[in-house]
Amino acid sequence: MRSQAVITARLPGKPGSCWVATAPETAYPRLAGSQATDVVVVGAGIVGVTAACLLSHAGLSVALVEARRIGRQVTGRSTAKITTQHSLIYRHLIENLGLKTARRYADANRLGMDQIRQWVERFGIACAFETRDAYVYCTNPTRLSDLEAEAEASRKVELDSDVLDRAPLPFSSAGALRSRNQAQFNPAQYLIGLAKATEAAGAKVFEQTRVTSLEENDGWQLKAGRASIHTKSLVLATNLPIAGPIPYDERTRPRSHIAMAFRIDSRAAIEGMFIGIDEPTHSLRMGRDDDGLLLVVLGSKFGTGLEGDVAKHFRDLEAWTRQNLDVGDAKWRWVNEDYETPDRVPLVGEVPQAPRLYIATGFNAWGISNGTAAGILIAQQILGESPDWASIYDPLRKVPTKFNKGGDSQSFVHNLDQIEPGGGGVMNLGRGKIAVWKGYDGTPHAVSASCTHKGCIVTWNNADQTWDCPCHGSIFSADGSVIHGPAVESLPPKKLPPNWLR
Ligand SMILES: Cc1cc2nc3c(=O)[nH]c(=O)nc-3n(C[C@H](O)[C@H](O)[C@H](O)COP(=O)(O)OP(=O)(O)OC[C@H]3O[C@@H](n4cnc5c(N)ncnc54)[C@H](O)[C@@H]3O)c2cc1C
Ligand code: FES
Repeated sequence: MRSQAVITARLPGKPGSCWVATAPETAYPRLAGSQATDVVVVGAGIVGVTAACLLSHAGLSVALVEARRIGRQVTGRSTAKITTQHSLIYRHLIENLGLKTARRYADANRLGMDQIRQWVERFGIACAFETRDAYVYCTNPTRLSDLEAEAEASRKVELDSDVLDRAPLPFSSAGALRSRNQAQFNPAQYLIGLAKATEAAGAKVFEQTRVTSLEENDGWQLKAGRASIHTKSLVLATNLPIAGPIPYDERTRPRSHIAMAFRIDSRAAIEGMFIGIDEPTHSLRMGRDDDGLLLVVLGSKFGTGLEGDVAKHFRDLEAWTRQNLDVGDAKWRWVNEDYETPDRVPLVGEVPQAPRLYIATGFNAWGISNGTAAGILIAQQILGESPDWASIYDPLRKVPTKFNKGGDSQSFVHNLDQIEPGGGGVMNLGRGKIAVWKGYDGTPHAVSASCTHKGCIVTWNNADQTWDCPCHGSIFSADGSVIHGPAVESLPPKKLPPNWLR
């Protein structure tokens, strides 16, 4: 056991996503009293806002209920490439699930991309939407055959791609698979614009309203603190379902990535969106904040809550970026997570054991087009239709049930002295475990270390200053409040024994 405390302030860049930082404020009301509606969509990420937009435009009464603020969670912290090119996916799909499934996956994602493009135009959403080519590149020549095989697989699913002998990047590469006419945007601005169009079509939008329980009762009865809402159809668009009859937390596993945005001169800008297949993987694209151009770089992934020194990943990413690209100051940095599935295909749709309950999860870090397709699919199912490609996302298909092995806290310490100011650690107290965070003045604050979802012991994330659960990816702020589910309740505060404080 060792202290994991590292002071956050030493990392370069402001904490937070550059997309969220440049998105307009929203101020929708909290849900209050007792209400009723045709559809409740829980979660205003890309899945939820897409479904809510389609359903309200189809004339249904819709309530979109968001725990925090619209578009600022996983979607708002992504790299926001809008593409059917999901690194090396089509060969994998053809070999493991067959050509028909691979074609349908391509169709669904094409549809998702087209929907985004159409809505940006139709609703005039200012979200820096730009058409770009997407590249998968390798620096190791032995991986070139993987790119060629992927190009061939892409052609089989009617996607247009070719292989180049190098990627148009300022560092050397051994080859690149190019897909033309893909796109990128600011995802937070997009969702805020789409939510506005959804409200204009008649939907009620609520923010800062965390749904804490649901019960089947001639439809669904939801509670959010003292408020409640009854609905005929319920969409759980919460990234991982917060409840329901199927344990999706065992069929998926949470994975985190780190991202940084560096100031860059226009002469050093890159043209396109890139993802490497070498280890550790890197993903690159251009973006901007209020002060100018940015290079956004994504680094290695790790199991959420299974990494005791997240800050080290940032230092490695900064070193790699400076070695390979001509960048200025690091301006933004953030951690984001998404859920993986064993077959790399999301789980979406109505859960037959719970009629009129719809879920969407497991986007494998490709949930911009997949998530839009998921929102379309759920809206169509609620309206009584089912597209041809629905079967690929079958939320009940057979996947290994023990895919998610979970894990234990990576932050155990023996005593308070092992925690530096600004750091956190987990300690035994009586029969339980407490999670202690120290303010920069050295004052310790304690909460229970048992995740309120299913009791796993949380890990201190020394970059974001959060408590991250190694089992199903719940994330809590230093003071214990929920940032990311499936947990719906805060980590309760704990009193430190007075003799520990002397
Ligand atoms: C680092 C990273 C980079 C990525 N880059 C890309 C990319 O370039 N292209 C791509 O296609 N995909 C990318 N992805 C994947 C993509 O971002 C996600 O798959 C997608 O955004 C998930 O959308 P969502 O709607 O499920 O989740 P979210 O956007 O998180 O929305 C869920 C919402 O539900 C709310 N919520 C949760 N619980 C409750 C509750 N109890 N009550 C009320 N509301 C609740 C949350 O607050 C949240 O706003 C990336 C993922 C990561 C981790
Ligand atoms: S998220 Fe499931 S136990 Fe923590």
